[in-house]
Amino acid sequence: MRISSFPLSRPRRLRRNENIRRLVRETRISLDDLIYPIFVRHGEGVVEEVPSMPGVFRYSVDRVADAVKEVRDLGIPAVILFGIPDRKDEVGSDTWSDQGIIQRALRVIKKEVQDVYVITDICFCEYTTHGHCGVVRNGEVDNDATLENLRKQAVSHAENGADMVAPSGMMDGMVRAIREALDEAGFKHIPIMSYSAKFASSFYGPFRDAAESAPSFGDRKGYQMDPANSREALKEVLMDVEEGADVVMVKPALAYLDIITRVKENVLVPVCAYNVSGEYSLIKAAGRLGWVDERKVMIETLLSIKRAGADMIITYFAKEVAQMINRGEV
Ligand code: PBG
Repeated sequence: MRISSFPLSRPRRLRRNENIRRLVRETRISLDDLIYPIFVRHGEGVVEEVPSMPGVFRYSVDRVADAVKEVRDLGIPAVILFGIPDRKDEVGSDTWSDQGIIQRALRVIKKEVQDVYVITDICFCEYTTHGHCGVVRNGEVDNDATLENLRKQAVSHAENGADMVAPSGMMDGMVRAIREALDEAGFKHIPIMSYSAKFASSFYGPFRDAAESAPSFGDRKGYQMDPANSREALKEVLMDVEEGADVVMVKPALAYLDIITRVKENVLVPVCAYNVSGEYSLIKAAGRLGWVDERKVMIETLLSIKRAGADMIITYFAKEVAQMINRGEV
């Protein structure tokens, strides 16, 4: 007998028009996935574009509430704040001062904007004269001395209204130290999103321009992870879960999609992926040159991060993609 239909299975049947494609689509980008990063700087009346990140701005404290309102009005649930202080010192004491840049921004945002979830980045590189992510002793970042300052920073952010804190310095034991400090200070309800698997990546280049946080000597390879390692990423993540992390993060996202998938398969907490500055700027630059269709590449990129397993994505594209979602284009 002749096989009447060959090939028997024709996957193209389910691709013939957009309606059937919608029905079989496995992954979607939604507003619910998005966290928008916001840079707050010293000064007054400042809204300045970051040269290496077109479309991304740094805001002074008096302008930041409007920036957050814009994000909220687009339907994006959360922002993550990064601070650029007017005064740096050896240890980054601005990070735990009541007059610190993040503390001032938090008070303004919490007073003027409702219905937006405010996460704060917990680190020192933007606040120290040497640009490293902690206390430097004998040319190295001293892990345990840094933990003491991380406690103070996290508690101060919580006192000033942070909804969630996100330590990004890759210090050993940082989640546990912050959890204890928050609990002791009465902030048992404030969750920790740990930058658990953060790689020593060259994709952070534009961010370091934006945040003035490049190290003045050496690099961050002594604390951030080696891009060659995957099992170690899982180890970092599992340690953080054990220490009490509520959400774990993989950063960057694109060159580390395999890590996102592996982490997702091995933990029961939500997984965040950070679509970092260099990933943004590469697409923006190629788009400007007319070499790629920027919007389509943006959507494809975010989809890949979602498909890899991310439950939420920190991305500089959040506002643009939200506009597209709101217009029904995605
Ligand atoms: C550290 C921090 C960095 C980023 C977020 N938090 C930079 C670094 O480790 O040098 C990078 C984010 C990006 O590139 O978009 N505070």
